[in-house]
Amino acid sequence: MKNKIPYLKDIKPGINKIEKYISGEIKKKKIEAKLSSNESPFEIPKKIIHAIFKELRFSNKYPDGDSDILKSSIAKRFKIKKSQIVCGNGSDDILSLICLAFSREDSEVICSNNGFLFYPIITYSSGAKPIYAETENFSISIKNIKERISKKTKIIFFANPNNPTGSIILRKELVKALKEIPKNIIVVIDGAYAEYVIDKEFSDGLDLVKKFPNLIITRTFSKIYSLAAFRVGWGYSSPEIIQILEKIRGPFNVNLVAQLAASKILKEKKFIDKAIKHNIKYRNMIEEKLKKMGFLVFKSHGNFLLVKKPFENNFN
Ligand SMILES: Cc1ncc(COP(=O)(O)O)c(C=O)c1O
Repeated sequence: MKNKIPYLKDIKPGINKIEKYISGEIKKKKIEAKLSSNESPFEIPKKIIHAIFKELRFSNKYPDGDSDILKSSIAKRFKIKKSQIVCGNGSDDILSLICLAFSREDSEVICSNNGFLFYPIITYSSGAKPIYAETENFSISIKNIKERISKKTKIIFFANPNNPTGSIILRKELVKALKEIPKNIIVVIDGAYAEYVIDKEFSDGLDLVKKFPNLIITRTFSKIYSLAAFRVGWGYSSPEIIQILEKIRGPFNVNLVAQLAASKILKEKKFIDKAIKHNIKYRNMIEEKLKKMGFLVFKSHGNFLLVKKPFENNFN
């Protein structure tokens, strides 16, 4: 339908196809545990809160536009190259930058039909068309992703583990896929929940960037690191891709306290280990209880569960 408002007439057609992302925020006061956004149940250590308080008096100055200390902390913690990291206002920011840089009108972006809802939003915003690869039994299917590749494909997005299905792609399959996918296509592995995975055959893909320069890994501080409110995430890729993302990002896209808190939380090994153990314990417990109640529960490698109600026959 043509827009009659003159100043909206030339809006990218894709924007009209976007359904606004509804966040998991629940306004009801009496809520015991909010599970809809896969946040961590833990508050950050008190010493980090104190450090943040001290920093607040510098609010009149812009933060470091290059997130230098944060990049150093990430590089050290993950044993990766600092010059190949880009930081963002949440990993959402990095995902948007990727679309902004690499997709355009008349191009296609592949994502999963049971995947993170933000990928089609940023795809449409860039003018491109999302192409959905079907999951197989609610797991990301590399085979189906490959079958959807066309001459117009610019980007492939998938989360590993996948939200909301909790499935993972193991390292062997990942390497095989990266070898087979044409090198002109940007492959984005969104590792928002990678820290929760304990399967030894899993890889977060960071070490694969060296071999596959068209690969971008995105990570977040919003989940296991308990910093969702501060909005901080990062991307790792080849120097050429990072230079492009660095050019188009907002000049001060990560705020002062986010940079500080994120670089400090990375050093809190005990805090992270506790979160992993807690997640395994309660995920298993809830899974068992739900199964006993007759629910079908899909195996999850993240901090969430996909559950099918007993009375639903066709869930797909
Ligand atoms: C798969 C996936 N990627 C990215 C994000 C966004 O994370 P951030 O808070 O870093 O923007 C989420 C948040 O739910 C997610 O589930």
